[in-house]
Amino acid sequence: MKTELFVQAAKTDANPVEPTNKPVMPPPPNPNKALWEKGDFTRIAETMRESGEALVQQLGLTPGLKVLDLGCGDGTTALPAAKLGADVVGVDIARNLVEAGNKRAAAQGLANCTFREGDASNLRPLPDQAFDLVVTIFGAMFAPKPFEVAREMVRVTQPGGRIVMGNWIPNDPTFVAQVLKISSNYTPPPPDGFVSPMTWGIESNVIERFAGAGVRADNISFARETFTFNFGGTPSQFVDEFRKYYGPTMNAFEAAEKNGRTAVLQKELEELFISQNKSKDATSIPATFLCVTVTV
Ligand SMILES: C[S@@+](CC[C@H](N)C(=O)[O-])C[C@H]1O[C@@H](n2cnc3c(N)ncnc32)[C@H](O)[C@@H]1O
Repeated sequence: MKTELFVQAAKTDANPVEPTNKPVMPPPPNPNKALWEKGDFTRIAETMRESGEALVQQLGLTPGLKVLDLGCGDGTTALPAAKLGADVVGVDIARNLVEAGNKRAAAQGLANCTFREGDASNLRPLPDQAFDLVVTIFGAMFAPKPFEVAREMVRVTQPGGRIVMGNWIPNDPTFVAQVLKISSNYTPPPPDGFVSPMTWGIESNVIERFAGAGVRADNISFARETFTFNFGGTPSQFVDEFRKYYGPTMNAFEAAEKNGRTAVLQKELEELFISQNKSKDATSIPATFLCVTVTV
């Protein structure tokens, strides 16, 4: 029996609670956090650096601009933004990715870029109107409670500031949307009430969620853009990276193993990666996403 789970404090004036031997339960596991702390997303992020930098170049950043990178991972967009002189705070739910981001920022001498743990559904203690720009590239879309996520992003953005979201699009035929679709086909169904992250890739949902945060539809614009994943090995080796390090695909393989479907899943992913690869001697796979720009 683990004694640290029991309340030991005596009743005092400062602590008017009757001592008890009832167990203090640890908080329930957060499946959203567990999914992204699983494996090592930095291995996939390594293949996203060029597109991350290119995207940041288009954001019109100026020195001293206050930027929140939400669902920042290990800094694919946060670090390039800091290199352009912005003051960047990265927030991510995964502790291992926050640590990796802080290490990368320190290694690159970027004192203007710090990473901290947090949940896009509840950004407190970040103050109201603290940022000129909130950028979230395939990040906030994965947080549960999308209406709260929209409200929080708007709350921390200055009036006149911007929110830029990159969201994968449901049923899009290109790379990541298909990886997520295939992976979910092998994973047990989510609990009742689960809202698919992919719904952030539907314009009407985005408008409805920001309307709930007081943003008018004509302050929201949409564009289809491309993010390219560049990997130094073959497409099959890139599938192995997803199998070993990318939470959603790791979960799919775990479920497939239990049902004897591992080989079918492996084949389905290899066919996808090979058919979408544009490189002759390595792997370069473009993926279409919905770029959402909101003026607050
Ligand atoms: C696909 S990765 C993208 C990471 C990074 N933006 C990039 O482009 O490399 C999704 C990220 O969202 C983070 N994330 C998922 N749910 C989150 C939440 N509720 N709050 C904050 N971050 C979250 C994950 O930990 C992960 O780092």
